[in-house]
Amino acid sequence: MNLFDVYPLFDINPVKAQGSWLWCEKGEKYLDLYGGHAVISIGHSHPHYVKAITDQLNNIGFYSNSVQNKLQVQLAEKLGALSGYTDYNLFLCNSGAEANENALKIASFVTGRKKIVAFQKAFHGRTSGAVAATDNPKIVAPFNAGHNITFVPLNDEKAFDDVMDGDVAAVIIEGIQGVGGIQLPTDSFLQYIEKKCKQHNTLLILDEIQSGYGRTGKFFAHQFANIHPHVITTAKGMGNGFPIGSVLIHPDIKPWSGMLGTTFGGNYLACAAAIAVLDVMEKEKLMDNASIVGDYLLEKLGQIKGLLEIRGKGLMIGIDLPDDKKSVRTNLLKAYKIFTGEAKPNTIRLLPSLTVTKAEADIFLHALEKEVA
Ligand SMILES: Cc1ncc(COP(=O)(O)O)c(C=O)c1O
Repeated sequence: MNLFDVYPLFDINPVKAQGSWLWCEKGEKYLDLYGGHAVISIGHSHPHYVKAITDQLNNIGFYSNSVQNKLQVQLAEKLGALSGYTDYNLFLCNSGAEANENALKIASFVTGRKKIVAFQKAFHGRTSGAVAATDNPKIVAPFNAGHNITFVPLNDEKAFDDVMDGDVAAVIIEGIQGVGGIQLPTDSFLQYIEKKCKQHNTLLILDEIQSGYGRTGKFFAHQFANIHPHVITTAKGMGNGFPIGSVLIHPDIKPWSGMLGTTFGGNYLACAAAIAVLDVMEKEKLMDNASIVGDYLLEKLGQIKGLLEIRGKGLMIGIDLPDDKKSVRTNLLKAYKIFTGEAKPNTIRLLPSLTVTKAEADIFLHALEKEVA
């Protein structure tokens, strides 16, 4: 059987990984500044993380959620404390799209409405509801036309006002748009949509799947704007590679039996991984590091001639290249052995581990400077 060939893969086979580094089967060493789409939060193969998963596997393994699972409670408490959302409730699932699907479902349950407002260039995942809230014609299948979603330009209060009314169940927005090319909502825009959501009894959903989990220097990117969404979704960095997603739900939203459900969500192994991630983030002060190394990268990138625009916060950075420099990302990988990501049409996306150092950032900065010279 062959793999269903739907996304491009580099012809590199990693066999070992440590921190921000990967080794392939040929023994070549790569600097990983992408972490498999923001997944590697505490660095590859962190010893505390490896031990936590291994110990768990040796105890009761993977067992799913039909019994009392104290690890879920431990995870909820720890996540509440580190994120500052101690009074919210936690629903655990397996991926980002699933977290958004549940968030949209909660909004329709709570409001009894169907209409959703999302933003141009947004990406929220690939389940039918999440993909319908995604503004990318290459991703959205024709059957998703059935969903009642309106897209408005990011940071445009007037356009937002034009579509907001008492029929809107939810407004869904990324803390920082990732796939859309690292586009940042302004603090004032986030505060404005929060105010309008309150006026219309509409739920505000913050998709922090890529921008959250300490990447920007705060636990969630929206916390720079000091807003408090009704629902926040997470995944990616939450498990440092182990599949897990979650929905943080405002205490005013009351659960009822059967409202949401899952077989694998919050299983023992996923919880052990997610708790270990939070342990390391706290102990090694990784949010501070994201802020320090992120500021350093943004400052140094600003000094490199030949880049069109640099956007980002902390360790979520987009670098726009001129049209004639389309090969830079491939060259960084082939000639300098540095993994980066991309967002179309010509943006390099940096989503390194939160453990990345200034010395590792320098390796990338020197390579990029040479490539765009
Ligand atoms: C902002 C955002 N939301 C949702 C998703 C979907 O997450 P998953 O691929 O885990 O379903 C992604 C994935 O890239 C994302 O970047």
